Amino acid sequence: MASATATYGQKESSDQNFDYMFKILIIGNSSVGKTSFLFRYADDSFTPAFVSTVGIDFKVKTIYRNDKRIKLQIWDTAGQERYRTITTAYYRGAMGFILMYDITNEDSFNAVQDWSTQIKTYSWDNAQVLLVGNKCDMEDERVVSADRGRQLSEHLGFEFFEASAKDNINVKQTFERLVDIICEKMSESLDAGDPAVTGAKQGPQLTEQPAPPHQDCAC
Ligand code: GTP
Ligand code: MG
Repeated sequence: MASATATYGQKESSDQNFDYMFKILIIGNSSVGKTSFLFRYADDSFTPAFVSTVGIDFKVKTIYRNDKRIKLQIWDTAGQERYRTITTAYYRGAMGFILMYDITNEDSFNAVQDWSTQIKTYSWDNAQVLLVGNKCDMEDERVVSADRGRQLSEHLGFEFFEASAKDNINVKQTFERLVDIICEKMSESLDAGDPAVTGAKQGPQLTEQPAPPHQDCAC
């Protein structure tokens, strides 16, 4: 298990291959598809087999966004309750969360509020959150409508996507939107002289980009 060194927007002097490193966590009930979502994004792969995550794991991916090379350190957490103490220890220092439920699983949707409370309890105040309703390829087994997902996301103040790790729907878009809102927040915080982020001020200011149109699942 590796340890995270992510500081908000901070540049690592030892590695010149990126401008910023963002630590992102994927959280949500067991079997909603967190590991599958990460594998689809990082490796463009998908397997129908379910191997429940033990504890926590991460993958790294560097993307070019907002004129910056951004290294994403994406942590895939175990959804099972028994790992909660381990996984919440990793919330600290995360700049973004993907909070995931499964559109075919009512319990996973009902748990979203609790996951949101966990974020508020264990993470930094400025952490950005995207709510994702995964498995939107399984329309026949849907029990949570897109409207309910959207309403809950508005209530919680999060942006919302429906997605499918299996069919590769809105996976890249989810990560890119999260990166964009982290960049926007970082830019705002720097403008306001927030001491929590002034460590990032050596680099040029990130330009703010208009929010892309809302993209829910097309399936
Ligand atoms: P934990 O590690 O226990 O927290 O679960 P997880 O959230 O990481 O779930 P995982 O990614 O292992 O996926 C659970 C099951 O759902 C696996 O059998 C996956 O193949 C399946 N699955 C994941 N995403 C999708 C999807 O978008 N569509 C469909 N149809 N199945 C999916
Ligand atoms: Mg997993």
